[in-house]
Amino acid sequence: MSLNRRQALGGFFTAGVVGWAGFTASDISVALAQASPPVERPLFPRPVLLAAGDELVATPAHPAFAPQAEAYGYNGSTPGPLIRIRKDEMFRKVVRNGLTEETSFHWHGLTVPTLMDGQPQDALAAGASTEIAFPIIQRAGLNWYHPHPHGHTGRQAWNGMAGFFIIEDDEENALNLPSGEDELILVLRDAKVQGLTRLIYELNPDGHEGDFPVVNGVAWPRTTLNNRLVRLRILNGANARVFQLTSKAPMIVIGNDGGLIDKPHPVDMVEMSPGERVDLLMDLRRVPPGARVGLNCASAEWKLLEINVVAAEPTSWDIPERLSEIEPLVHGGGEPERTFVFQETDRINDERFDMKTIAFAVEQGKVERWRFASARGAPHPVHVHGAHFQIIGGQHTNGNPRRDYAWERGWKDTVLVRTHETVDVLIRFDSYEGRYLLHCHKLEHEDHGMMLNFVVAKDTVEAMRRAEVENIYGPICWPTL
Ligand code: C2O
Ligand code: CU
Repeated sequence: MSLNRRQALGGFFTAGVVGWAGFTASDISVALAQASPPVERPLFPRPVLLAAGDELVATPAHPAFAPQAEAYGYNGSTPGPLIRIRKDEMFRKVVRNGLTEETSFHWHGLTVPTLMDGQPQDALAAGASTEIAFPIIQRAGLNWYHPHPHGHTGRQAWNGMAGFFIIEDDEENALNLPSGEDELILVLRDAKVQGLTRLIYELNPDGHEGDFPVVNGVAWPRTTLNNRLVRLRILNGANARVFQLTSKAPMIVIGNDGGLIDKPHPVDMVEMSPGERVDLLMDLRRVPPGARVGLNCASAEWKLLEINVVAAEPTSWDIPERLSEIEPLVHGGGEPERTFVFQETDRINDERFDMKTIAFAVEQGKVERWRFASARGAPHPVHVHGAHFQIIGGQHTNGNPRRDYAWERGWKDTVLVRTHETVDVLIRFDSYEGRYLLHCHKLEHEDHGMMLNFVVAKDTVEAMRRAEVENIYGPICWPTL
């Protein structure tokens, strides 16, 4: 890399406004300026909707921050196209692997039958395709799709593979939340490049972090928003980085992984680990037009997104008093049924992931209390497939109770377990029988083995018997669907 920063910025200015795709050669200089934001930040792109009849194809793609680099995405773009669907509809899609290596299509946050879940056992070979079909049986929320092949999830995600999957329903629609131009859908990542042509992915077992922020595929972007109440729906799509979101503008948490929470909670900061989503209202009504507001990351000291506030006609958007009724899960009390200790970079309860091994069986429809604990290598974003859970508390090893975070209310599928911390959750698998996964969503931990299989079954004894046969003969027994 021989251009200095001044030349790089010069190149950037000639590039003009940057869109979702279609970068010119001069835009390449952008790639040299990532270590700090350019004076004029590129415009932030809004995700493009996947057309109903289109296949979803894992493809090579060129990231906006390094347009010459050979990276990955879906349907030629990184992040991939947005999927929007309503509750109770059927999701049907041909998915195709247009890469030269195996990948899988996992629908993070969606409760789906095992065979549709894109687990490592069901990765698609290069060039292969399959038809996905499952009913949307859950409430409104921001979910996402990403690859899940064993050992290579981190590298493929780092290369740009992620896309949004939004569910809508009547409950949410009735709230009249900001929509259209007043709703932003963001995936936060970090990245690291070498020169113009290569994304750097080092196999760091403790989690791979980049040195500049990327929002919807663009480094250091800006956007224009009306001086209204706006809705920011945010996914942490990074491999390992935890973001601490702050802003000078008032932020109000209204939802997370599993959709809306009970009522709005004003916050100064939201901490988000890989895989987690947060739904925020940002109140720009009192920000003077022409002002610039940041969405910042306190821990990295980055301004992730610069928001240029402009004058607009007022709207009817308001902060609802109540958002949703959350049915509290009820547990019989007593000690947790299961404790999972996340160890170093590669183990849960002393085991490394083995595709053929089923660690345990959980009874369908029963509420269990699970405890997640960290033993070195934390923070660990703990993620469960197949059901959502409710966080009921936790402890620090110094004896203090774990804090009650506003963004962790309601239904979650991923929770950040910090150093020296335990987190207790209640969980009930009331949808499908079958094989699901529990793992750390720091993708390098996942790839190195911090993951396990379990089964949901009406008859757990029979399920474990089958699992034992499977241990010997390979994955022939699950799923039974
Ligand atoms: Cu987002 Cu098992 O993954
Ligand atoms: Cu971990």
